[in-house]
Amino acid sequence: MRLLLLFTLASCVSAQKIYQGFNTGAFFTSSKPKAQSDFEAEFNTAQSLHYSPGVFSSARLYTCIQAGTTNTPIEAFQAAINTNTSLLLGIWCSGTTSIDNEIAALKSAIDKFGTKLKDLVVGLSVGSEDLYRLSKSGIENKAGVGAGPSTIIPFIQSARSGLAGTILSSIPIGHVDSWSAWSNTSNSAVINEVDFLGMDLYPYYEKDIDNRIENAEQIFEKLHNKTTAVAGGKPVWITETGWPVSGPVSGNATASVDNARTFWDIIACKYLGRNNVWWYTLRDADPSIAEKFAISKDLSADTTFNLTCPAASGAPASVNTDLSKGVQSTKKNAAMRSVEEMGYTAVFVLCGVMGFLL
Ligand SMILES: *[C@@H]1O[C@H](CO)[C@@H](O)[C@H](O)[C@H]1NC(C)=O
Ligand SMILES: *[C@@H]1O[C@H](CO)[C@@H](O)[C@H](O)[C@H]1NC(C)=O
Ligand SMILES: *[C@@H]1O[C@H](CO)[C@@H](O)[C@H](O)[C@H]1NC(C)=O
Ligand SMILES: *[C@@H]1O[C@H](CO)[C@@H](O)[C@H](O)[C@H]1NC(C)=O
Ligand SMILES: *[C@@H]1O[C@H](CO)[C@@H](O)[C@H](O)[C@H]1NC(C)=O
Repeated sequence: MRLLLLFTLASCVSAQKIYQGFNTGAFFTSSKPKAQSDFEAEFNTAQSLHYSPGVFSSARLYTCIQAGTTNTPIEAFQAAINTNTSLLLGIWCSGTTSIDNEIAALKSAIDKFGTKLKDLVVGLSVGSEDLYRLSKSGIENKAGVGAGPSTIIPFIQSARSGLAGTILSSIPIGHVDSWSAWSNTSNSAVINEVDFLGMDLYPYYEKDIDNRIENAEQIFEKLHNKTTAVAGGKPVWITETGWPVSGPVSGNATASVDNARTFWDIIACKYLGRNNVWWYTLRDADPSIAEKFAISKDLSADTTFNLTCPAASGAPASVNTDLSKGVQSTKKNAAMRSVEEMGYTAVFVLCGVMGFLL
C-alpha cells in the first residue's frame, strides 16, 4: 500500500503545470521602448498562432523596468494581466552595481496588481547570459558587458531578501545562462544559489563543431545533458532556443525557413508540454542582430512554417486549426484551458491527500 502511494506520489510530482511561451525584450531598438499595446499584441498573437502545438500563453521578460524609466514597472505586466499570459520575470544584471531599481519596479507592480500579477508569475530569473558574455566565447563574439559569479550571487540573494514578506516571496528564483556557462565549473557556486537553471542553447551558434542542421538534434541533446548533469537535480528550463529563418552562415549551419522548421520539429515538438520552454522567438525586435528568428511576419497568426508537430512526437495537439472562425476557436481554447486546469486541480488535491496519507 505504502509503495503504491509512493509510486503515485512520484507521478504527482511530474503532473505540475508546464509553461510554453516566447521571449520578449523591452525594446524594439535601443531608442524605442515597447508599450503595453505592443506587449499585448504579442501575447494575443502568441495565443492564436495557427496550428500551434498547445497554447503559447507564457512570456519571458529580461527586466522588470519599463524601458526609458528609472524604476517604473514594465508595461508587459498589465498586458499579461489583460491577456492571461504567465510570466517568467527577469532582472537585468550586467553593467550595474545594484538591482535596487529592478526590485523597486517589481514591488511597485506587486502593490499595484496584487494577486492578479502573482497568479501569473512562473518564476524570476536574476540575470540573462551574464556569465556567457564574460566567457571566452562571449568575449570572442563581442557579446557585450557581462557579470561574473561574484556579481550574480549577491544579486540573487538581494532578489530573495527584496521579495521576502511580499506575495512573491515563494516564487522560484533562478538565473538564465548559456549551456556553456552552466557547465563551466568556475560558475558552479551560482548553481548552489538558484531554484532553477534557465538554459539558452542554439546549435546554430555552435560553430566550432559540425553544426549543420542534420546534427542539430544530437548537439542539442548532448549540451542539454551537460547542463542537466551539473544541475544537481534542480529543474533545467529551456529559456531560449530556436533556429534563424534568415541570416549569415554560422560554421556549418545555414539559416533558412526549412531549417527553422526542421529544428522546430525535432526540438520544439520534443519538449513542448513536457519541459518549460520559452522559444526564440515570435517577433524580432533588435535590428542590429543579423539573424532573424521570428516564426511569423509582423505578428501574424499565420506562421512562416506549419507549426503542427509530427503525430508521434508526443507534443500537445494543434490548436487554432479552425481558420474559418477565428474568434470561436480562441473561445474554444479558453474552454479547453479551463478543463485542463480542473484536471490540474484534481491532481493537486489527490496529491495532497496522498502526501497526507504518507
Ligand atoms: C569559465 O567561467 C569563468 C568565470 O565566469 C570565465 O572567466 C571563463 O572565461 C570561463 N571559461 C571559458 C572557457 O569560457
Ligand atoms: C564543416 O563541414 C565540413 C565539410 O563537411 C567539414 O570538413 C568540417 O570539419 C565541418 N566543420 C566542423 C567545425 O566540424
Ligand atoms: C542525453 O541523456 C539521455 C538521458 O540520460 C540519453 O538517453 C541520451 O542518449 C543523451 N543524449 C546525448 C546526445 O548524449
Ligand atoms: C499544417 O499541417 C497540418 C498537418 O499536416 C495540416 O492538416 C494543415 O492543413 C496544415 N496547415 C496549413 C495552414 O498548411
Ligand atoms: C488563465 O489561464 C489559466 C491557465 O492557463 C486558466 O486556468 C484560467 O482559467 C485563465 N483565466 C481566465 C480568466 O481566462
